[in-house]
Amino acid sequence: MTQVGRAPRREPAEPSPVPDLAILPDLASAAQVAADRVASRCARAIEARGECAIALAGGDTPRALYGYLATPPTRDRIAWGRVRIFWGDERGVAPEDPRSNFRMAQETLLSRVPVPADRIHRMPADHPDLEAAAEAYAALLREHLPAAPDGWPRFDLVLLGLGEDAHTASLFPGSPVLEETRRAVVAYTVPHLGMSRMTLTLPVLNHAGEVLFLVSGAQKAQALWAVLEGPRDPDRVPAQGIRPAGGRVVWVVDAAAASSLAVKPSTTPTPGGR
Ligand code: 6PG
Repeated sequence: MTQVGRAPRREPAEPSPVPDLAILPDLASAAQVAADRVASRCARAIEARGECAIALAGGDTPRALYGYLATPPTRDRIAWGRVRIFWGDERGVAPEDPRSNFRMAQETLLSRVPVPADRIHRMPADHPDLEAAAEAYAALLREHLPAAPDGWPRFDLVLLGLGEDAHTASLFPGSPVLEETRRAVVAYTVPHLGMSRMTLTLPVLNHAGEVLFLVSGAQKAQALWAVLEGPRDPDRVPAQGIRPAGGRVVWVVDAAAASSLAVKPSTTPTPGGR
């Protein structure tokens, strides 16, 4: 049973859309709702501009979502030849490494749908010259994505997850990357991980037409509360920094992840992204 409501309106400094919030019984049903929204969003983008540019999320949670996207009927709703695939972030490992976000997406989705190889843009977080690689990836965004009026590349859809510390992509609490205003892509060593990461930055994430978070599990409940109902503090709660002025933020979560939320969504129909 899908319950949907609107997270309580935070008092943002600048206007931002109230995120849609869909709470589903479990990860499987949440992933199915998320897959439906991805398909709807893609169809609208392709109808509007002939293409759909998506930034994929990493980690484990998206596996369920990518599985639904790669399986009929949802798979057959998407004109995969018109889709362009990017990543929101990547670990500093080789593409065949089990920790690679590219490898996870390759296994669960891209090896099962007909996206042309030249429309799949792996984030080279294992490149020996990370700064040049980040700049080259930003150039790819400028080359292949439509530009917003202020010149920033604009994704049709960004998929994101949420860490237990409320990080998203590779934007971690207290990271200087959270202050980035100039670059669309940065690479840096994450101190507490002792690993390099490459990530889209807040300015480009906040130019997306839609951002869809898929969050699952009781271990994420505190982080989800902090993002949606806790005090505003994007430096300590990085996912709060995701507020696309000209786009939508959609949260598709399971009941375990939502267990600390005060909001009790009404049973208005799921926003199908139409
Ligand atoms: C990554 C992700 C990261 C992820 C969260 C949640 O590279 O790890 O981009 O932001 O979305 O850490 O990860 P899980 O889905 O594995 O809990």
